[in-house]
Amino acid sequence: MKTDAYVKFGEMASTYGQQYVTPDLDLPKYPANVFRLNTFINLLNEIKPKRVIDVGCGTADPLLAMRKAGHEVDGFDFAEEMVAVAKSNVEKAGYSPDIIFRDNMEDITQVETGVYDCAIALGAVYYARDFEKTIGNIAGLLPSGGHMIISLRNDLFSMYSMNDYSVEYMYRTFFPKEKLSEDLRRRLDAHMQERHKVEDVEKVFETIDDRLVHTYNHNPLTVQQDILSAHGLMQKGLYFYHFHALPPIFEHTDRDEFRKLSAEFEANPADWRGMFMCSTFIVHAQKA
Ligand SMILES: C[S@@+](CC[C@H](N)C(=O)[O-])C[C@H]1O[C@@H](n2cnc3c(N)ncnc32)[C@H](O)[C@@H]1O
Repeated sequence: MKTDAYVKFGEMASTYGQQYVTPDLDLPKYPANVFRLNTFINLLNEIKPKRVIDVGCGTADPLLAMRKAGHEVDGFDFAEEMVAVAKSNVEKAGYSPDIIFRDNMEDITQVETGVYDCAIALGAVYYARDFEKTIGNIAGLLPSGGHMIISLRNDLFSMYSMNDYSVEYMYRTFFPKEKLSEDLRRRLDAHMQERHKVEDVEKVFETIDDRLVHTYNHNPLTVQQDILSAHGLMQKGLYFYHFHALPPIFEHTDRDEFRKLSAEFEANPADWRGMFMCSTFIVHAQKA
């Protein structure tokens, strides 16, 4: 039985904000979320929304950075510990703690439709148990012309990672395996296993383990039909972050060089190569 992500994130509430304090390529964790935050701020600067709601706002460090850039952002999270840390952080920054509240993106009860003309979610929506419903809930908050900006996990990254995830992805997505003769199936298995060895390595940094919490991955090429159309949303742009300059195994063996080269790619979030080289991406959509 997989755990709900907000429970796991709640346990990390006291330390989660550290990644935003002194982002540095030397940290145990690559500062992917700082690159993500920069792209969100750049998009808000372009859109200039009147009021923004941050879904799954965590410690409110991103929300405060956006307020510093001049945007009126409120936020909610479902993890009580995150809400407590976020309220304390916004108060320390001189804002009312009421700009943060507790709510569940899978069943939003505290936000009325039309109050916010922009809904954002950084690293939150793909942790929903019911992704489809969650996107519907968020889209439902927006007035016509309102904006939604969310980050998602990139399914196509498996085509670039060149490991056991690639094998699983290719079998799931491309190969007509039921139609193969037994002999061909056996040789295909051997071919795939030989070229994509299971990486028996310790994790580079501690993270929410994908195998213990609910997550969804998405294909950036099919976002419009897979996610947006059903909710009256039109895709305006895709942006990539958490580039991998080399297959991820090299972050284990050549960390500094790997990170320096990867960080150089982050300068252009619109680089189409992010479709494969990035584990995560951002969707900007607008409600009809
Ligand atoms: C990866 S963290 C990101 C936090 C913050 N947005 C950031 O970028 O630093 C995901 C957040 O989503 C929250 N979350 C998970 N499930 C949620 C739900 N059902 N409703 C609201 N928030 C949720 C978690 O508690 C956590 O704070």
